[in-house]
Amino acid sequence: MALVGLVGWRGMVGSVLMDRMQAEGDFALIEPMFFSTSNAGGRAPAMAKNETTLQDANDIAQLKRCDIVITAQGSDYTKVVYPQLRAAGWKGYWIDAAKTLRMQDDAVIILDPVNMPVIKDALARGVKDYIGGNCTVSCMLMGLGALFKADLVEWMTCTTYQAASGGGAQHMRELLTQMGSLNASVRSLLDDPASAILEIDRTIADTQRGLSAEETKNFMVPLAGSLIPWIDADRGDGTSLEEWKGGAETNKILGRGPGFGVPATPIDSICVRVGAMRCHSQALTLKMKRDVPLADLEAIIKADNSWVRYVPNTREASVRGLTPVAVTGTMDIAVGRLRKLAMGPQYVGAFTIGDQLLWGAAEPLRRMLRILLEQ
Ligand code: HSE
Repeated sequence: MALVGLVGWRGMVGSVLMDRMQAEGDFALIEPMFFSTSNAGGRAPAMAKNETTLQDANDIAQLKRCDIVITAQGSDYTKVVYPQLRAAGWKGYWIDAAKTLRMQDDAVIILDPVNMPVIKDALARGVKDYIGGNCTVSCMLMGLGALFKADLVEWMTCTTYQAASGGGAQHMRELLTQMGSLNASVRSLLDDPASAILEIDRTIADTQRGLSAEETKNFMVPLAGSLIPWIDADRGDGTSLEEWKGGAETNKILGRGPGFGVPATPIDSICVRVGAMRCHSQALTLKMKRDVPLADLEAIIKADNSWVRYVPNTREASVRGLTPVAVTGTMDIAVGRLRKLAMGPQYVGAFTIGDQLLWGAAEPLRRMLRILLEQ
């Protein structure tokens, strides 16, 4: 039975990963070895079999024992530990949620319902590093990957509506704390049906602008009742790192662009943080290579994978089924608002939503484990 090291299993992505692995019976197929950065020597969780003691996540000798390491510990950990482990001669498979290794030539971005041929080809070539993609990219491709696979897309632009969870657990707490502060500042006015809405509005704006440094520590500015049109680092050329990932990672997942001998598909985005909890949404404009009937596009999208949940382009279906609240905590990738745009028959609009902790982070990792076990 493969010895599988698990690192970062207690964090937010790691906890979702553990839940999914338990739900899918993955632990029955492996000998898990739990690592910790803070509690080495402690007791491993109940899924442990023979390896009942937590190992030090920085102990290269223990990591070296593993056939496979799965980490959701984050990019700082990968930066430090991964090179040491490889330098020590470890030849195992490294499955990682962090961005650190994603764009390396000898690493594959994993999203098997979309790029199984790329993964299979890499396995055959002896590639050992399999990295989960950016959550926005993975959720979008689970919804619309079929159109790329059918080579129908000339270019795509994307406006994202990204949840607080993309920043981390502390960001989610901060959003809710801010919501509480806003509500508290107008509670007596809300309780009075005769109060003036513009007074409530003024009070809210004052409260937002007056939030303390502590209350905006993670987002830098208020997110509750607002939005933030910039995610991740400033690349200095007018784009954010999150926006760059949209194009670079999508193409790499699809096996396009430099190194693949197929031209990259132009993809660009404006990435926006909104006050959703853990679902990332995307509004997309696609220029198709030809005029494909809407019914055909719908059929291609629906047939692609079992997680796509097609939402008819009506008000009733969209407001009920195409929202973060409808999708959160589920494996569904909701795809809707599919229609031809005013620019011409080759232009298509769509809206997709996925839980960024499930398909956007944990799920591709455990599925990669299964692919390795089934080899
Ligand atoms: N960078 C993403 C976000 C999450 O901030 O929403 C991780 O892919």
